[in-house]
Amino acid sequence: MWSKNSSLEGGVLSLSGISAAQLAKDFGTPTFFLDEDAFRSRSLAWHNGLQSQFGSNAGTIYYAAKSFICTAVAQWIADIGIGIDVCTGGELAVAIAGGVNPSKIEVHGNNKSVAEIDRAVSLGVKTIVMDSLFEIERVAAAAKKYGVRQGVMLRLTPGIEAHTHEKISTAHEDVKFGFSIASGAAWTAVEAVAKHPELELRGVHCHIGSQIFGSEAHEIATDRLMGFMSSYRDQFGTQLPELDLGGGFGIAYIAGEVTVEPADVLPAIHSAVLAACKKYELDMPQVSLEPGRNIVGPTMFTLYEVGTVKDVTLEDKSIRKYVSVDGGMSDNARTALYDAEYTAVIAQRSSEAPAVLSRLVGKHCETGDIIIRDIQLPSDIAPGDLVATPATGAYGRSMASNYNHVPKPPVVAVKDGKARVIVRRENEADLLALDVKE
Ligand code: LLP
Repeated sequence: MWSKNSSLEGGVLSLSGISAAQLAKDFGTPTFFLDEDAFRSRSLAWHNGLQSQFGSNAGTIYYAAKSFICTAVAQWIADIGIGIDVCTGGELAVAIAGGVNPSKIEVHGNNKSVAEIDRAVSLGVKTIVMDSLFEIERVAAAAKKYGVRQGVMLRLTPGIEAHTHEKISTAHEDVKFGFSIASGAAWTAVEAVAKHPELELRGVHCHIGSQIFGSEAHEIATDRLMGFMSSYRDQFGTQLPELDLGGGFGIAYIAGEVTVEPADVLPAIHSAVLAACKKYELDMPQVSLEPGRNIVGPTMFTLYEVGTVKDVTLEDKSIRKYVSVDGGMSDNARTALYDAEYTAVIAQRSSEAPAVLSRLVGKHCETGDIIIRDIQLPSDIAPGDLVATPATGAYGRSMASNYNHVPKPPVVAVKDGKARVIVRRENEADLLALDVKE
């Protein structure tokens, strides 16, 4: 759960040699602390893994910006040399601000606005992944306007129930995303693209869900997408060159879970592609992936300070200790939204006190403002203690809200024993900045 440069010794959590107490003193709480070295090495592990597994058929690792993006991280992406998947104009703007070359950008989204499409085409992004027939016409119009041939892919729905929470599973049939292979919608989309010489259909894409373990779902998706590529070849006489299997690789949030490593899944994906090449008599396509959570999730922890502790007597007369920290559902919506599970430690001291059933909650005016529903914490936990929750890098800060007018926490990158702010803390002026006074 903890990033590679984190250590927990004698009850003291440190990142790159800086103790949690020092980090809290220098940057305040709540704060997301990001292990930059871990981010870079996880990105490179995916990049190098794809290269070594697929050789000259390795496509691109597109880091899924939705999991977490800011200008500094976009700069790291540009520096590392991987690509980036953006799904809104806002994410595209950050990628560009960070100096990511448009030839490394892939644009997603089920309802891209005309303005977003216009900007993406005018910048010369590598691929726009088509999600509706309307969009095919809109992208074609933009390509015509700029006199370019725009690379596009089709997002397909392969009809797979990946075993994950319903709200983050995306490739079964009854969803808003993609063109269904089974219903024939995918073929209609192929024909719509073929009518536009200003669109270059580069291949097919799917994203089957998030927080997936094992490689089975990706293997089945590979077979279905490549079966579709073979129908295309039969009809048009040429093969589509690219296959993008999306992201979704799971990470450990609590003890007993194991983060998927690229080496755990890439060989199986490679074998599935090879098997499909044989089955459908296809040449090996360029294979790309879009991991988000798996790269950034394990690289951050959130550091909070305990404000109050309250023993609540339950119906069966047992006691639950409510431990309130200075953040909550505004910096971690995942527990409330997906019943996600996290763990936590006291970050600045050890304790010999017995562990007691506790609930880690935030400061919001809502009962559902829970970070960890059930956790055993030392019974002497008290106001002023620092509490850290690991593995909050993905969909934590990126889904943060200003509920109850709580300012969003900063993100502090730590590397080689030095810490620096890469997203500053919001303040009251930020909260008031958009209001128009009557
Ligand atoms: N590619 C596409 C087209 C996607 O829609 C997504 C995620 C990804 C890649 C990256 O998936 P990852 O590797 O991060 O699992 N907010 C939810 C997750 C929503 C994911 C949406 N799409 C959560 O907090 O669990």
